[in-house]
Amino acid sequence: MIELKSEREIRIIRENGRIVALTLSYLKEKIKSGIKTIELDKLAEEFILKKNAIPAFKGYRGYAGNICTSINNEVVHGIPGERALKEGEIVSVDIGVLKNGFYADGAWTFPVGEISNQAKRLLEVTLESLEAGISQSIAGNRLGDISYAVQSIAEKNGYSVVRDLTGHGIGRQMHEDPPVPNFGSPGTGLLLKEGMILAIEPMVNAGGYEIKTLEDNWTVVTLDGSLSAHFEHTVAITQNGAEILTLPEEPF
Ligand code: MF3
Ligand code: CO
Repeated sequence: MIELKSEREIRIIRENGRIVALTLSYLKEKIKSGIKTIELDKLAEEFILKKNAIPAFKGYRGYAGNICTSINNEVVHGIPGERALKEGEIVSVDIGVLKNGFYADGAWTFPVGEISNQAKRLLEVTLESLEAGISQSIAGNRLGDISYAVQSIAEKNGYSVVRDLTGHGIGRQMHEDPPVPNFGSPGTGLLLKEGMILAIEPMVNAGGYEIKTLEDNWTVVTLDGSLSAHFEHTVAITQNGAEILTLPEEPF
């Protein structure tokens, strides 16, 4: 069942989305060669708690981190640990917060120092695919319009979208209906309505779309070892079109 959100509820999620964005901006400044992902996790926890919000991932189905940090060929759900970032790597940081009874969720893939042109292009294309999906997030469109927009940007550039993981509705729960796949056909699927809030989150692989989960039962990696990027925004469908709730004032 899909819960439509009132103006008041959207206001709360907007405030929470802002905390997600501020946390990502803060971490961006800390990401450089030598920092351990557990240090990013700790900084994020302190930052979010100072905003009187709760890091939403901690304890979710037994998840140990406050955030997810996924490096290079890791797609999503990398658990922060003693691994230090190195020059030339990419790291996807995924953050959820809970405050005043509502969730917001966002992710961004950051370069560690100077990265290769191929890696840069993967980040640009994945962000572009997210933006294409967001621009289809308008009342009267269908879910497949979002999915198709994301998929076609990624594939046009020679990349593939992960198929086994999706975006999702978000609100009083971190994961609500509907699932938001990153591939699909235009004009098909659920009719989009004002008051829907969607977490749209393309995961784009430089190689094939197949993935596997590591022994830790969380870290998802590309099957072929290729690089992967992940960008996510929480988006409201309003009478004025799509509103991104997890945007920072200054671009990341
Ligand atoms: N942020 C992920 C999502 O967008 C959820 C992460 S769950 C966790 O759906 F437990 F790994 F944190
Ligand atoms: Co999400």
